[in-house]
Amino acid sequence: MPVTPHTKALVLGSGGASQAVLRVLENLHIAYLVVSRTAGNKAVDYDTLKNTDDLSNYSLIINTTPLGMSPNTDTYPDLAYDQLSPQHYCYDLVYNPENTQFMQRAATQGAHTKNGLDMLRLQAEKSWEIWNQ
Ligand SMILES: NC(=O)c1ccc[n+]([C@@H]2O[C@H](COP(=O)([O-])OP(=O)(O)OC[C@H]3O[C@@H](n4cnc5c(N)ncnc54)[C@H](OP(=O)(O)O)[C@@H]3O)[C@@H](O)[C@H]2O)c1
Repeated sequence: MPVTPHTKALVLGSGGASQAVLRVLENLHIAYLVVSRTAGNKAVDYDTLKNTDDLSNYSLIINTTPLGMSPNTDTYPDLAYDQLSPQHYCYDLVYNPENTQFMQRAATQGAHTKNGLDMLRLQAEKSWEIWNQ
């Protein structure tokens, strides 16, 4: 596990899974910034992030986009990966392939990485439990 506690997270994507991630971050009292292809009230776009901010300000980076998911395994979020370091924890909700381009690029900088396989299993077990009550 990386250096903790995390106080600021970057959440890539603003779809359904992103909303679940935001809820968890709020419960954990971790501040966050959403990065979206379209800037809005609650999100910045990728170019703005690159031009005005530094990834060193966010120790936790969570990919909730489908970028990297099979069969598009050569795709990845457009980030300044050279700003990552061993202080970062990069979590990919994608679970196929096990080691996505996002994770590989983060790991090259020494960042800690994790894919979405455990999350997939845990949410499946929770769903099973709820529907069998
Ligand atoms: N591990 C798990 O248990 C688990 C659970 C749920 C989902 N997932 C995975 O998480 C991913 C997202 O699922 P979802 O249900 O949230 O999908 P979704 O509702 O379609 O949202 C995906 C979001 O990703 C962004 N996005 C989509 N295409 C993009 C592209 N080409 N470039 C950059 N950003 C893009 C969009 O956000 P913006 O419009 O803001 O850019 C979009 O709203 C999928 O790969 C899914 O398999 C994993």
